[in-house]
Amino acid sequence: MAIKEQVINAYKRQVKLSSTLAKVGYDSAIGKLLRLRVYYLDAFVMLQKLKSFLDTAKANIGDKFFAVDQAIIHTSHAEVKQLMEVEPQLRGNDLGIIRILAPSYLLDNPLSLGMNGMEHTGARAVFLQALPKPSENIEYLGNLVDECLTEAANKGELHIGKDLPRMMLKILHQIVFQISLSEPEITASNNFIQRLPLATLPNFVTKYLLRILTGSVIKHRRNLTERYKTSPKWSSYLETGAKYQLNEHQISNTLFDMIHIAGTAGTSALLGSVIGVLCLDEELRNKVISEVNGIWNGQETLNENALENSIIINKTILETARLYPAVRFVSQLSQEEGEIDFGEVKCPFQKGTRLLGSILSANRDPNRYENPDSFDIERDFSDILSWNGYGHERACPGRSLAIGLINIFCLYLFNKYKWDSFTEVRWELERVTAVTPNDLVLQGFARK
Ligand code: HEM
Repeated sequence: MAIKEQVINAYKRQVKLSSTLAKVGYDSAIGKLLRLRVYYLDAFVMLQKLKSFLDTAKANIGDKFFAVDQAIIHTSHAEVKQLMEVEPQLRGNDLGIIRILAPSYLLDNPLSLGMNGMEHTGARAVFLQALPKPSENIEYLGNLVDECLTEAANKGELHIGKDLPRMMLKILHQIVFQISLSEPEITASNNFIQRLPLATLPNFVTKYLLRILTGSVIKHRRNLTERYKTSPKWSSYLETGAKYQLNEHQISNTLFDMIHIAGTAGTSALLGSVIGVLCLDEELRNKVISEVNGIWNGQETLNENALENSIIINKTILETARLYPAVRFVSQLSQEEGEIDFGEVKCPFQKGTRLLGSILSANRDPNRYENPDSFDIERDFSDILSWNGYGHERACPGRSLAIGLINIFCLYLFNKYKWDSFTEVRWELERVTAVTPNDLVLQGFARK
């Protein structure tokens, strides 16, 4: 079936459901069941044709439309920004568009994204304590990056989809806990991230029917969160968390999610995209190389101004994050009922309805960005939405570390390493997999 037909069918289904929900109740047993049905029906299409679904719905229905579990997807830059800035936000345990229906996968600890009130304030305090300022730790971070790249050089290749998440897991565990993960632990952590979509299935399916896939990674999570408690940094996190009545289980699990879901998945995807962009664009790559050489200036280690002087690299990271946002959706719950207007049709929506912001759509909104699909590092990035905006309670706390780490990777890659060739660079924006050129390999990868 053509995508337009699929989108229109989904729209009709959702419009009909909105009046049914007004009658039977949004959160009644029947309301939940009816929403779950449309959730899986829409997800079936969106999992395979995500960008086409969003673009077609925007073109044919409008900037806002119902989708998945009768959530309202916002697509314009202005409205997504406005959504992000709502304070305080009411959250459900959702990872963007994905609903976490199997708490067992997360050892019954909600994602910080789904926390509210003091629990969320406490989680933020622990994050801010755990995440260092990159410019003040440049030598330390540089050594961690260099160690990872040396391992890739020993193998003779750098594989974007396979190697970068492993590197990021290693680096973030060192930074946050000063612990070294063994190779089997890195594999298990990576499997945990890869199998996260299984947490969107009902709990009994994830926990029992799919035990063969989930059992080992859940066990790994249990073991690793216990290991965190042996870290030299543990007592300081415990002290901070206790001020907000967070217990040991909440603190270790919340840091597990910070490292695995937010940190590793997000940063390795964006780093992979930056490498992909620089492989394809020779002119930009040459500018970056000349900036990198000027920053090293023949020295052995990077100095504290290295990041500040990385002007072109920084703009390249921001423009890549705009075109290929590592996180595609943000989600919150509506705090009151209302009505959504589809031209002639007006539909009620209920309190508790999910309000989704599509960062992918907002970042390519022609009303905000001229020629939105083209790559241009000279744009105004002051209101970039890729890290959930700026200066509010839900903005990404890892933004400067993520940008700093990617910057340091570029400084090492283009000064200390070389490669003979690279394979095809392709982003799969239609799939709900990571937004990164997963199959890209730098071949003949070696230290200079
Ligand atoms: C070192 C790397 C990173 C760390 C440690 C990190 C950490 C986090 C954490 C803990 C949250 C949850 C905040 C909360 O619950 O209040 C978060 C939110 C977020 N992060 Fe990051 N992040 C990193 C990299 C990235 C990257 C590379 C991107 C995208 C380019 C990104 C985009 C976002 C977005 C959009 C949110 C908001 C999600 C929502 O509210 O639904 N993050 N980040």
